[in-house]
Amino acid sequence: MENSVFTARLDNCYDELKWLYCELYHNDMEAFDYFVQMLETQWNARKDALRAIDEKRLAEPDWYRSNKLLGMMMYPANFGGTLKGVQEKLSYLTECGINYLHLMPLLDSPKGKSDGGYAVSDFRKVRPDLGTMEDLAELADACHEKGMVLCLDFVLNHTSEEHAWAKAARAGDPVARSRYFFYDNWDIPNEFEKTVPQVFPTTAPGNFTKLEDGQIVMTSFYPFQWDLNYANPMVFNDMVENLLYLANQGMDVIRLDAVPYIWKELGTDCRNLPKVHTLVRMMHLAVQIVCPSVLLLGEVVMEPKKVAPYFGTVAKPECDMLYNVTTMCTTWHTVATRDVRLLKRQMEQVTALPETCLFQNYLRCHDDIGWGLDYPWLEQFSITEVAHKKYLNDWFTGKLPGSWSKGELYNDDPRLGDARLCGTTASLTGLEKAAETKEDALMDQSLLCFWMLHAWMFSQSGIPVLYSGDEVAQFNDNSYKADPDKMDDSRYLHRGNFDWEKAALRTDISTVQGKAFSFLRKLETIRTEHPAFRSDAIVTVLDTGCDSVLGISRKYNGEELLLLFNFSEKPVTCNLGEGQVLNLIFGGAEDLRNIDLTGYGFRWLAC
Ligand code: GLC
Repeated sequence: MENSVFTARLDNCYDELKWLYCELYHNDMEAFDYFVQMLETQWNARKDALRAIDEKRLAEPDWYRSNKLLGMMMYPANFGGTLKGVQEKLSYLTECGINYLHLMPLLDSPKGKSDGGYAVSDFRKVRPDLGTMEDLAELADACHEKGMVLCLDFVLNHTSEEHAWAKAARAGDPVARSRYFFYDNWDIPNEFEKTVPQVFPTTAPGNFTKLEDGQIVMTSFYPFQWDLNYANPMVFNDMVENLLYLANQGMDVIRLDAVPYIWKELGTDCRNLPKVHTLVRMMHLAVQIVCPSVLLLGEVVMEPKKVAPYFGTVAKPECDMLYNVTTMCTTWHTVATRDVRLLKRQMEQVTALPETCLFQNYLRCHDDIGWGLDYPWLEQFSITEVAHKKYLNDWFTGKLPGSWSKGELYNDDPRLGDARLCGTTASLTGLEKAAETKEDALMDQSLLCFWMLHAWMFSQSGIPVLYSGDEVAQFNDNSYKADPDKMDDSRYLHRGNFDWEKAALRTDISTVQGKAFSFLRKLETIRTEHPAFRSDAIVTVLDTGCDSVLGISRKYNGEELLLLFNFSEKPVTCNLGEGQVLNLIFGGAEDLRNIDLTGYGFRWLAC
């Protein structure tokens, strides 16, 4: 394929790209020409095999909206030791039904100052203990051979303080300094501090860090993560080049880490500013030109109304996929309250979005659960933010009577009453406690809750993504408390090494691992067999007549499914009207008038 393809794709979006670029960068044509030249260089570097994938997916643009994708996210080191180790273990993932693999940060990052790999010191180099860039490209090829899609984190808001740009900036190079936010006194930083909230109020207070020579640099996350200044077109040009370089190693999905933060402006909260959307739209256009099969997954951990705008519009898309973060944390709120009303409202909002909006659904990921709920709506039940966050945290850390949950707080900010929460799905749903206390009844109940939550996650539109270890109900890992590089960050509680010995029990259904694994496989298989689970199905929220039971209907091409989830440990009977339906999980007919749900029971029913 020659450059005519490149030229045609560039022509297609040239006007919009130039318009956006020139508006943002004050008609800096030199920078724009460099950008376009860089796109061509990256296009020339793209392998034929990847160009063939581009063509295939362009002919089938809905390829990622099917009900056949099942994802898993993981730290490669925790799962396979190295990238080669991950490659050797791909058959385990196939056994799990996984065909979408999200690898969390694996690029070079200084030990002890890495924020779990989210402080990158070289965007072109794999962390040496994990392997090489060739290993990554080989892993991508191996995934593609197995029909697996590969997603990689791209940390674009900041670099490590040990990135070459940061080192040069520290040494006084003014060009390198212009890539960051450098100040020689606190005047402007103090102005920013008046309006910018803190990301890590306890582990890394403040948004700026003073260097040895008195210079002050913006560090919204940890002090060793220096915020990049995207008002400088060089930063945009080089970071997009890094993104395309990684896409050219065979990545199918690029996760835009912490994307709402990438534009800063005095007097604002420096989150979700309009120019962030300009930047993401331009990234999307760059991908369309160079590697159009690649999808952008936005990490927008924000309150509900701030998330959807990152899809852009149908005519001018920005991110192809977003995390369904509000549904995730509303789900955990519902576990603690046994009241589905907020979740119902959340579902009504999600289902009102255009079908083109695609979410990545999940129960747990490598981060904490931040309680970003719709508090203004909850106020009608006299639920207020600070008190409710305390209730949720007390419940999930097992402080409240009757709680079986074993979570830990994260960044507890007593000033704001704003702690977040850590823990694996199994530990939050009581399986760990039941294993410790050997209470059979608690074990049964926790398993039901664990299954029900997964069934609910698989019932949402989009791509379900398991957090590695959840498929075998892995518990919390407390070993981080003895590791000086990790002890201050309780997110490591749920970032333990994958326990291969326990996972080996997955074929023995008398074990917790076997019970979790076999039931999840059953659900996942049923999901792939029914087109009504496609992400473009029509979804409506049902009135189940019971505040602990969430009900939804999914319709696609003449098929209708009714899905019910009891979020309480108490049994209930639901009446959904007249008629007989088929139980998809256990077989047999059921009467819609009398559906008996056990505590944490659920149903997948076909009309
Ligand atoms: C994202 C990551 C998180 C990290 C932060 C800073 O939110 O998910 O783990 O700490 O970005 O890069």
